[in-house]
Amino acid sequence: MGNKDAVLYALSQEDEPVSGEVLAAQLGVSRAAIWKAVNALREEGHAIDAQSNRGYVLRNGIGVLTESGLRKELQRPDRKIELLDEVDSTNTCAKALAAQGAPEGTLVIADCQREGRGRFGRRFHSPKGSGLYMSLVLRPRLPAEQAVRVTVIAAVAVAQAVEDMAGGSVEIKWVNDLFAGGKKLCGILTEAGMDFESGQLEYCVVGIGINVNKEAYPQEIAEIATSIQEQWGMPVSRCRLAAKIVNRIEEMMEEPMNEKIMEEYRCRSNVLGRLVTVSRGDQRFDALAMRIDDDGGLVVRTEDGDTTLRSGEVSLKVKP
Ligand code: BTN
Repeated sequence: MGNKDAVLYALSQEDEPVSGEVLAAQLGVSRAAIWKAVNALREEGHAIDAQSNRGYVLRNGIGVLTESGLRKELQRPDRKIELLDEVDSTNTCAKALAAQGAPEGTLVIADCQREGRGRFGRRFHSPKGSGLYMSLVLRPRLPAEQAVRVTVIAAVAVAQAVEDMAGGSVEIKWVNDLFAGGKKLCGILTEAGMDFESGQLEYCVVGIGINVNKEAYPQEIAEIATSIQEQWGMPVSRCRLAAKIVNRIEEMMEEPMNEKIMEEYRCRSNVLGRLVTVSRGDQRFDALAMRIDDDGGLVVRTEDGDTTLRSGEVSLKVKP
């Protein structure tokens, strides 16, 4: 990790100016090295002001993504991290790495995505600087039909991490969306590679996209999307949020079938007991959402009886 990254992270943690002398002492390098790093960062477009006799200050620094910032907050800092300014999709990148044998815990994280993907081939709006877009490679010892557990764990982890950092309350819309104030805050896309001989998962890539800062959304999602800043009015450190989520996912993945996880997922559900419209392939029908079974399936009731949904999605008939 170079001086540039370390200086950027150090400045991102302070609201007040930090002198070159203090930075040099903190990082164990010369003041000339700090000066050089600051100039290089400015050339990359970071807005670093120099206040005379006081030091350097990074404007809008709190949300800055740096490798040192991530490693500092991760319970397991010694992992492969691909931190990218821009990428087509962190999931696509993480899947390619996983297929080449990247170890469990490999993290791909980007400041923006050109082709962020959601379920059913939808686009996930991923503008620069305002969201958290990351994909984590997991190698769970789970049969392929239990892959939904990974989505369940990721959803619970994101809800806990956001509440921890921003307060407020986060709900889960089966199966992979997180809501706050009745609007979508986060989407999760889990993609898996399978070992056909054993029927077990070879790898899982869990992709998480969170709207962090307030943002002018495209018209088609303006009414249905929200962000942490919009809901709770506070800027959030994307490094800390990302690391908290990864830490929580990895803790829960130690015992993925623990029933407490599914219990929390159910408690956070915003669909149970409500009328929903089910979309499954070409089918669309209204139903009452009854319960979520131990395999993560949503049991819905229609005039014809109960059906368990293992794919597809639901939307609320009356918005919360
Ligand atoms: C959905 O809303 O259906 C899921 C959206 C998942 C978006 C995340 S952002 C990081 C990762 N990379 C992607 O291309 N998609 C996921």
